[in-house]
Amino acid sequence: MTTHVKPLRKRAAWEALQAHYKKIQALHLRTLFANDPGRGERMAAGAAGIYLDYSKNRITDETLRLLVQLAEESGLRERIDAMFRGEKINITENRAVLHVALRAPREASVLTDGRNVVPEVHAVLDRMTDFSNRIRQGEWRGHTGEPIRNIVNIGIGGSDLGPAMAYEALKHYSDRRMTFRFVSNIDGTDFTEAVHDLAPEQTLFIVSSKTFTTLETMTNARTARAWLLKGLGGDEKSVAKHFVAVSTNEAEVKKFGIDTANMFGFWDWVGGRYSMDSAIGLSTMLAIGPDNFRTMLNGFHQMDEHFRITPFERNLPVLMALLTIWYTGFFDAHTVAVLPYDQYLRRFPAYLQQLTMESNGKYITLDGMKVDYQTSPIYWGEPGTNGQHSFYQLIHQGTRFIPCDFIAFDTSLNPLGQHHDILMANVFAQAEALAFGKTAEQVKAEGTPDWLVPHRVFEGNRPSNMIMAERLSPEILGKLVALYEHCVFTQGVIWQIDSFDQWGVELGKALAQRIVPELESEAEPELAHDSSTNNLIHRYRRGKSGL
Ligand code: F6P
Repeated sequence: MTTHVKPLRKRAAWEALQAHYKKIQALHLRTLFANDPGRGERMAAGAAGIYLDYSKNRITDETLRLLVQLAEESGLRERIDAMFRGEKINITENRAVLHVALRAPREASVLTDGRNVVPEVHAVLDRMTDFSNRIRQGEWRGHTGEPIRNIVNIGIGGSDLGPAMAYEALKHYSDRRMTFRFVSNIDGTDFTEAVHDLAPEQTLFIVSSKTFTTLETMTNARTARAWLLKGLGGDEKSVAKHFVAVSTNEAEVKKFGIDTANMFGFWDWVGGRYSMDSAIGLSTMLAIGPDNFRTMLNGFHQMDEHFRITPFERNLPVLMALLTIWYTGFFDAHTVAVLPYDQYLRRFPAYLQQLTMESNGKYITLDGMKVDYQTSPIYWGEPGTNGQHSFYQLIHQGTRFIPCDFIAFDTSLNPLGQHHDILMANVFAQAEALAFGKTAEQVKAEGTPDWLVPHRVFEGNRPSNMIMAERLSPEILGKLVALYEHCVFTQGVIWQIDSFDQWGVELGKALAQRIVPELESEAEPELAHDSSTNNLIHRYRRGKSGL
C-alpha cells in the first residue's frame, strides 16, 4: 500500500523539530519554570474527568506547535476519521479497527462493510448481562446444583491481560463472595495454583480466545475440562454447566465441546489487545456487575469522543503520543515508565505492555519500507511507592533518559488515616525531584563534604506527565484505557505503521509447534535446527528422562 504521507524524516514538521531540538535540548526545566511562572497551570489539559499536567516535559510552546503540525502533516485527522468510519485501516489483515464500537451507545451507528455493528454489540452485551445476573444471583447452578462461586478465566495476551488487570483495578466494586482467577501461562503451575483450593462443583471456566486455536489457552482449557470431570465423577454433561466460551470462532468452540448457546461472540474488527470491553470482559462483568461494566464502557466512550473531536493541542491522547514521539525521536528515549500511585492498578503496566508494544513494536511502514527511526519505546512500571524503593534510583541518577507517566487519584477507595496524603506527597515529590533535581550548591549548603557532593547531586531535567482523576472507578478505568489506546493509535499514525497486526509473534509460535513432537517422541528425533537448539533439545530429553 502506498500512502500520500511523506516518510517521517522528510516531513516539514520533523525537519523543523530537528532544528528546534538543537536549540532547546540543553534547556533545563528549572529555567523553563523560572521564566514562566504560569507554566504549571498553562501546560495542562483536562477532559472527561482526566487531568493531564504535561508541564514537566522538555518542551516549549514552539515544540508543541511543531509537534501538532507533525500530527497534522502525518494525516492524523483523516486516520482518526477512517478508524471511526470503519475503514479497513489494519491493512495487513484487511480488517476494520472498531474497538470504539464496543462502547458506542445503543442508539449509535458505526458502519463497516455497510453494516451497522452497534446492534450486534448490544445484543452480546445483553446476553452477557443476563448470564452475569444469573450467575451472580445463584440462578445458574453447577452440575450438582450448587451455585457458582469461582470464576476462572482461561486466556492469554489480550484474552487475559485486560480481564486480569480490570479485575484487580476494580476489585473494590467486585462481589466479594466470589473468587476470580486468571490462567494464562502454559506452565502447568499456573493452572494448578489457580484451582488448588477451588471446588469443581462451584467453578465456572470462561475459555477466552479470539481464535480459539491458541496453544496455551486450548491446552489449559483441556486440562480444566479433565480437572472438572475428575472432580465431578466423569459425567460429560457437567461441561455445559461449567464451561462458557468467548470467541470469534464458533466452529472451534463447537469442536472443543462447548455448547454455542454458551458462547459470547465478538468480531474480527476487535484486536485482542483492544478487547477488554468486548465479551472478553465477561469475567469483569461477573465481578463488578453489569451496571458497573456499562459505566466502564461509558467511560471508554467519553474518551473516544474526546479523541475524535478535540483539537490536537488539547487532545489528551494526542498530546501524550506527541511527547513520546518527541522523546523517542530526538532524546533517544528507549523506554517509558508507567507509575500508578494506586495499588489497584498494579497490573496496569503489564496490560499496557501488550497494548503499546504489540501494537507499535514494528519496523516496517504501511508502504512496506524499513523505518529509519525508532518506533515503540519499552513500556514498563510498578505501582508507587514500591518502585521508589527499587528502580527509581536509576530514573533519578542513572545514565538513561526515562520519561515517566505518573497516575494518581484525588481520593482513595480505602481511606486510612494519613495513607493517601503520604502517597500523594510521594507522587508529587517524585515528579518534582525528577524535574528540578538538586544542585551542587544546594548539596554543599547542607554541609555535605566535598567528596560526597557529586554523589548527592540530582541533575534533574527528567520529564514526566502527571495523570490525575478524582477516584478509581469503572468509568475512570475505561477513560484511562481509552486514553492509552488512542495514544498508541496516534503514535502508529505518525510512525506510519500498522498498529493492529502482530506478525512478530508468529515465528516463535510456529517453531514451538515443530519442537513439541521432538521433545515428546519416544524415538530419538532427527533434529535439523542449529547446533545450539539441537543441543538444548537433546539435553532436555536426557534431563526429563533422568539420564
Ligand atoms: O500471540 C499474540 C496474540 O495473537 C495476541 O495478539 C492475542 O491477544 C493473544 O495472542 C491471544 O489470542 P487469542 O485470543 O486468539 O487466544
